[in-house]
Amino acid sequence: MARLRLGVLVSGRGSNLQALIDAAADPAFPAEVALVLSNRADAHGLERATAAGVATAVVDHRAFPGDKRAFEGAMDDALRAANVDLVCLAGFMRLLSPWFVERWHDRLLNIHPSLLPSFKGLDTHARALAAGVRVHGCTVHLVRPAMDEGPILAQAAVPVLPGDDERSLAERVLAAEHRLYPLAVRLLAEGRARVLGERVEIDGDGPDGSTALIVPALR
Ligand code: GAR
Repeated sequence: MARLRLGVLVSGRGSNLQALIDAAADPAFPAEVALVLSNRADAHGLERATAAGVATAVVDHRAFPGDKRAFEGAMDDALRAANVDLVCLAGFMRLLSPWFVERWHDRLLNIHPSLLPSFKGLDTHARALAAGVRVHGCTVHLVRPAMDEGPILAQAAVPVLPGDDERSLAERVLAAEHRLYPLAVRLLAEGRARVLGERVEIDGDGPDGSTALIVPALR
């Protein structure tokens, strides 16, 4: 079966992009990274793509002052020219307009570093620590026009541990992100996830009896 063609949008480091590239290195993975698109020419993610032999494009938002529609139109053109089936936001730090989001309706994913709907927006780890939550994590969801909203495809939870600071917590969540994004893409690519309005149903989903994350650990 043909692999799903991913367009990955990055603004910086690109470690989630790397996780998708690494997953796609396995021929059994049902998707491949067809294009890495960045709004910043200096994004490290572009170097990762080039190193993996993946095509790249840069659409610099600063080239379209006051004209978001033209900026997004140029991104949309690049994605369509590369025959992209599914767009994955991976640390893409521009808010997309309803026009772009609707054009890629149910074909646009985002990874966010919190258990949504908690902690939308920026500085999620600092806010989780300030709130004193014992469990934190990350979410892959379908994008809707409102920021960090949309049907949830997959989530990973991690404990918040005594002595954690923003950095140690971010590291733990990021390691979970790297496992979660390829899993979420696989579910969609294999047709095992169905979007029913604002919720996602997943075939073969069910409790395995061993998955509760209880923090603090009971001894
Ligand atoms: C990731 O933690 C991702 O969840 C977050 O930015 C980081 C990008 O890292 N995304 C957001 O905060 C989106 N609102 P990466 O460039 O190494 O993948």
